[in-house]
Amino acid sequence: MLQIPLRKLDRLKPLPSELDRYELATIEELCAWQRQQLVWSLRHAYDNVPHYRAKFDAVGVHPNDLKSLDDLAKFPFTVKADLRDNYPFGMFAVPERQITRIHASSGTTGKPTVVGYTKRDIEIWSDVVARSIRAAGGRAGMKLHNAYGYGLFTGGLGAHYGAERLGCTVIPVSGGMTERQVQLITDFKPDIIMVTPSYMLAILDEFRKQGLDPRKSSLRIGIFGAEPWTNAVREEIEEAFDLHAVDIYGLSEVIGPGVASECVETKDGLHIWEDHFYPEIIDPHTGRVVPDGQEGELVFTSLTKEAMPIIRYRTRDLTRLLPGTARAMRRMEKVTGRTDDMIILRGVNVFPTQIEEKLLTIPALSMHYQLVLTRSGRMDEMEVHVEARPGSTALEIRKAAANRLEQAIKDTIGISSKVIIRDPDSIERSAGKARRIVDRRPQN
Ligand code: DLL
Repeated sequence: MLQIPLRKLDRLKPLPSELDRYELATIEELCAWQRQQLVWSLRHAYDNVPHYRAKFDAVGVHPNDLKSLDDLAKFPFTVKADLRDNYPFGMFAVPERQITRIHASSGTTGKPTVVGYTKRDIEIWSDVVARSIRAAGGRAGMKLHNAYGYGLFTGGLGAHYGAERLGCTVIPVSGGMTERQVQLITDFKPDIIMVTPSYMLAILDEFRKQGLDPRKSSLRIGIFGAEPWTNAVREEIEEAFDLHAVDIYGLSEVIGPGVASECVETKDGLHIWEDHFYPEIIDPHTGRVVPDGQEGELVFTSLTKEAMPIIRYRTRDLTRLLPGTARAMRRMEKVTGRTDDMIILRGVNVFPTQIEEKLLTIPALSMHYQLVLTRSGRMDEMEVHVEARPGSTALEIRKAAANRLEQAIKDTIGISSKVIIRDPDSIERSAGKARRIVDRRPQN
């Protein structure tokens, strides 16, 4: 692991005087606030969104039934299909003229999921992103290169407003045109970069392609999210750029980026900004709430959102809740994957992140990979396509690396796979979220 001089870290860790009221609150104060806001949010949804009223009525619950935080479990879940069924604006709880902004997620099939914000929602969103950037070590006056995509995706504008709120100088680059990303980093000398971790790896390759030493870049902080990434990728990026890499999580249905974020001084999971987003973990099969510490599907209820309150939204992200460390608010462990990204191969559950963790242990392999699913006869098979690092492309090196990776996957995950080592730069790059699974199985 890269040894970062403590002096450097000390300057990034916020002083208590820089934290806001809720970051300094005790658990008891937070719980009292959450209980009050949960009642507000449930009422707001029930009174103003016919969908919620019908769903609550159908199971015989009313917002007045919430006496303690645990009572939330009595209320029905919301799923992505509910948003689609109410396309485009049926989930909004305020008149359309009060909506300041609309975002939407493209979705691979059918209609996009639409979300809306009031002026106050945008302010709250800016506040939580500003808090996330500060937790990562960002401060007013720093320059921030924003390579999250601008547009209907919440990443670009969400990061932008948060960075401005903190008082940073924002460079709104958006995703794509990797050569230009490198040029702008070199010329404008930003302190912070916000981008998906997979695209950061593409930017890293471009630095090297141009013969530039990434460690000499001005970047000190990287705030990466929008897709699962492992500590192996963190190590790769920190080592390559000599920067601090922290994780930021969010989803458009809940607000966008800034639902939870890592603190630079601990990097031990993401503190959930619990004054605005109430988390639960459920067993994805039974829907039952599981205790903190146990893994399951993350569920969120918004506590302050006006335009589109969201009640018990099933994120499909798998993680667990842990007690607070750098802040009192609880942490969520780095997301392992989504229930929909789980590959079941001959009965064994596999997530792309499990394969990713193995890559860094084999020096000849890069972190650019895809899992290709095929079917031969009745059997599903998985090929791991991964690029050799430049300089490790000789046939014998590739063969040895493929064998090592196949063995590591067999030993730790318990499945047989075929590893195919590809040339550098031959696996598709995305300027946003990487596509890790390519499913070539015939559709039944
Ligand atoms: O990806 C919001 C975002 C933008 C977060 C920029 C962080 C940075 P959606 O497009 O709605 O919103 O996708 C949300 O992305 O349910 C997770 O599956 C995944 N995701 C987001 N952040 C992380 C993360 C944005 N840090 C979906 N780790 C979520 C793992 C993440 N997965």
